[in-house]
Amino acid sequence: MKKIFFISVLLLVATISCKDTKKTAENKVSETETVQNIKDSEGYKLMEQKCFICHFPVPDGSRRDEMIAPPMLRVQEHYKPAYPNKADFVNAIKEWVKNPTEEKIQMPGASRKFETMPYLPYPDEEVQLIAETLFEIDFSAEFKGQGRGQGRGQGKAQGNGGHGRKQDLQLNNGEKWQLNKEAIANVNNIIKKLDAFKSDDVKAYQNLGKEVFQIAKTLILDKTIENQKFDQLQAFFHNIEDDTHELIQVKTVAEGQEKQEIIKKKFSKFFDFFE
Ligand code: HEC
Repeated sequence: MKKIFFISVLLLVATISCKDTKKTAENKVSETETVQNIKDSEGYKLMEQKCFICHFPVPDGSRRDEMIAPPMLRVQEHYKPAYPNKADFVNAIKEWVKNPTEEKIQMPGASRKFETMPYLPYPDEEVQLIAETLFEIDFSAEFKGQGRGQGRGQGKAQGNGGHGRKQDLQLNNGEKWQLNKEAIANVNNIIKKLDAFKSDDVKAYQNLGKEVFQIAKTLILDKTIENQKFDQLQAFFHNIEDDTHELIQVKTVAEGQEKQEIIKKKFSKFFDFFE
């Protein structure tokens, strides 16, 4: 039996059998803002009980094998750029927990790597508090010195916006990796768009960032791309992930143009590795 299914069943039982938490959650809404230490907040306690069962708070290199879901820090890093406004962020988290469907995915890499997150029948008020805490919490301050380890855990504790080590792409024994027609067409379209794009509306640049993200998501979720080929594809998109997040959040047209140039330049290398 799959571990994740087992946990879900446990959770379901726990939710049904402890209706008390619901009452507490309602009383504590205003308290969340006033607690000094976020770890003492009701939202955090709920997150510990309801989410940390599957999600580590921060990446932990020494417990990589036990990871069955992306660490919460990573969730925050992916949702904040997509939903910079707190109300939108909270809403998106609530919608996901209520009904985790493909079109809502912000972390396609995690979706490929782990089993699908099960539907969790948590009361709305609880998820609200959890989501507010997830927006507010500074994981690097709360988990100082923890969560160091290999890979993406590294170098992120300072909150520098980076995603740890960037990987160099590799060829397939000197040959390019073969992609299917749709994947190639998708990438060609976004390259064309990035080349020609010009606007004096900052929102248009943010939307361009979202389009780049959609292409990355489509390719990463393509299950026909597997194994080493998938790793290389993911490495490619990992290298533009921060730039894409930044483009989605630019505040001025000039910033937008700058990010557009960076992403364009990185995409120009795509066909050096894939065909
Ligand atoms: C039973 C295990 C489990 C529990 C409990 C759980 N999650 Fe998840 N979660 C996962 C897995 C596995 C993934 C990665 C696969 C996926 O995206 O479906 C994930 C992914 C996510 C994502 C990213 C989805 C995306 O956009 O790609 C969010 C957001 C999330 N979880 C929020 C939560 C919150 C908030 C809680 C607590 C209320 C929670 N999860 C509890 C297993 C769990």
